Amino acid sequence: MLGLAALPKRSGSRRRLALSAAAKVNLVLEILGKRADGYHELATVMQAVDLSDRLILDEAPDLGLVVNSDVIPGDATNLALRAAVALREAARVNGGVHITLDKRIPVAAGLGGGSTDAAAVLFGLNRLWRLRWPGARLAELATKLGMDVPFFLRGGAALGTARGEVLKPVPAGAVALVLVSPPIESSTAAVYGRVTPSMYTDGARARTMAGILRTRQAARVAASLYNGLEAAVAPLHPEIARMKAALLAAGALGVAMSGSGPTVFGVARSFEHARQIRARLTRASWRCWAVRTLGGPAVRVRTIESMGRTMGRGQAARRGTLDPVFGGSNPPAPTTIRRGRR
Ligand code: C5P
Repeated sequence: MLGLAALPKRSGSRRRLALSAAAKVNLVLEILGKRADGYHELATVMQAVDLSDRLILDEAPDLGLVVNSDVIPGDATNLALRAAVALREAARVNGGVHITLDKRIPVAAGLGGGSTDAAAVLFGLNRLWRLRWPGARLAELATKLGMDVPFFLRGGAALGTARGEVLKPVPAGAVALVLVSPPIESSTAAVYGRVTPSMYTDGARARTMAGILRTRQAARVAASLYNGLEAAVAPLHPEIARMKAALLAAGALGVAMSGSGPTVFGVARSFEHARQIRARLTRASWRCWAVRTLGGPAVRVRTIESMGRTMGRGQAARRGTLDPVFGGSNPPAPTTIRRGRR
């Protein structure tokens, strides 16, 4: 396993940006039909949650990636590195970046871990390379990396339509959830390949959830969870039904699978209740988290270092070195300021 001890050495006055990149769950995922381009038409409510990967972007003459995980590739197939390559080409940048990726979100688990890392790289490099691309232009490039990636440039909650990439922000109150992830990986393409017309629905559930989210009522959110992909995945992995049953037995108000699985999540009455539920889930092979939904951005700047100086996010914003990615419509939430690594 590669550790963060392998952090590349900084040279001279190059700049460094430390970011966090949050996971998501799909509170509702409906498949409306098959499209002519081979993708599926979706209506989904995506919600960012406070389980995050950490990234450090170091300005460098070339491109490089170090990952603290032996289950995801550190080579050119890694979505974070592909994001850097795509932006460098599209913006005709000569310089590069060394990415250090601290994976905390389980991989190929339905939580958008790879997509949020890619979004963080686009967001971070837009600043590190001083590109000043507007959010819409970044989102267009993000779609080329994966249909979930544009969501992570915004965060909060959003209704996703078309292939999931056409987003409408949904005002949402905070809800506490318990995530349960088995030691199984699920390929999104393979799951969509098992979808049949019997799994199609009309999008009403997603619209209903978007309305309910405003109310902050956990019981109503719990009663309206739905994932049309479950019918395609559950027969392959009996563990999914077991995790859902265990969450309900432990007190969850409602349960569903996230994305193309296999992670499932349960809705709790409060964060304290979520912690109690998590403590009652005893199977050693499951990884469990009590989390809160995030109303603000999924990607957050933790620190910026320039010319050997460390600036917190607020300080940098006052100096005019940070631009909100989507104008003022998605204001950054307060961030924890930590000293960068040296
Ligand atoms: O967008 P992303 O690259 O993550 O999607 C992975 C695969 O999932 C696609 O290649 C496609 O097979 C399938 N997919 C789909 N319909 C969607 C999104 C993804 O069929 N709306």
